[in-house]
Amino acid sequence: MTARPHALAVGTSGMLAGACRGLAERGWQVTMVARARRKLDAAIAGTPHLWPAPVDYRDATAFDTAVKDAIARAGPVRLALCWIRGTAPDALTATAAVVVDGGRVVHVLGSAGGRHPSTLGSGALLAQDRVRYQRVVLGFVVESGRSRWLTDAEISAGALAAIDDSALDPHVVGQVEPWHARP
Ligand SMILES: NC(=O)c1ccc[n+]([C@@H]2O[C@H](COP(=O)([O-])OP(=O)(O)OC[C@H]3O[C@@H](n4cnc5c(N)ncnc54)[C@H](OP(=O)(O)O)[C@@H]3O)[C@@H](O)[C@H]2O)c1
Repeated sequence: MTARPHALAVGTSGMLAGACRGLAERGWQVTMVARARRKLDAAIAGTPHLWPAPVDYRDATAFDTAVKDAIARAGPVRLALCWIRGTAPDALTATAAVVVDGGRVVHVLGSAGGRHPSTLGSGALLAQDRVRYQRVVLGFVVESGRSRWLTDAEISAGALAAIDDSALDPHVVGQVEPWHARP
């Protein structure tokens, strides 16, 4: 068991690997969930306090076992960082369920076709107050008259901004309006 608080970071070996490194720098012990072991190993290389949990979050039984193993070695989950496809809502529910009372769920979301950020996310998590639920909505950037999608570094920095300030919700990274200005 580690003395550090435990963060469970689901779907984070890609664009959110930088956010996991930022969590480790902030004093967290981070369990990173993704399927491909090689990508996980590359993401954790050189950074202490990141542990890989190679599992498919669509496999409820395997995911439950992996999360229980992570809790056994790193302690109760105080923060969940989630980038979970909308096609796997049960994985978001299962992740939020293991977060301790008073803990936090930071949910990274795509911008969903120009819908207002306040309408995005999990209705069930928005309706409860057992844990603090924050949404991080990924937008785009307009610079020098041209628009582009966010970089992985900008996405990770946006997630960390929400982690650093629990009052932020929804936290839009870049912009989502006007939607027609997207790349
Ligand atoms: N508005 C924006 O600017 C915006 C929004 C969204 C995405 N993007 C861009 O689009 C790129 C691609 O997006 P992406 O979704 O492919 O992001 P990604 O973060 O590169 O990949 C998804 C992450 O989730 C994991 N994952 C996926 N399915 C999983 C499953 N069933 N079980 C466990 N883990 C799973 C992946 O690892 P495994 O595949 O190994 O499981 C990976 O760690 C990003 O790099 C980003 O730059 C931009």
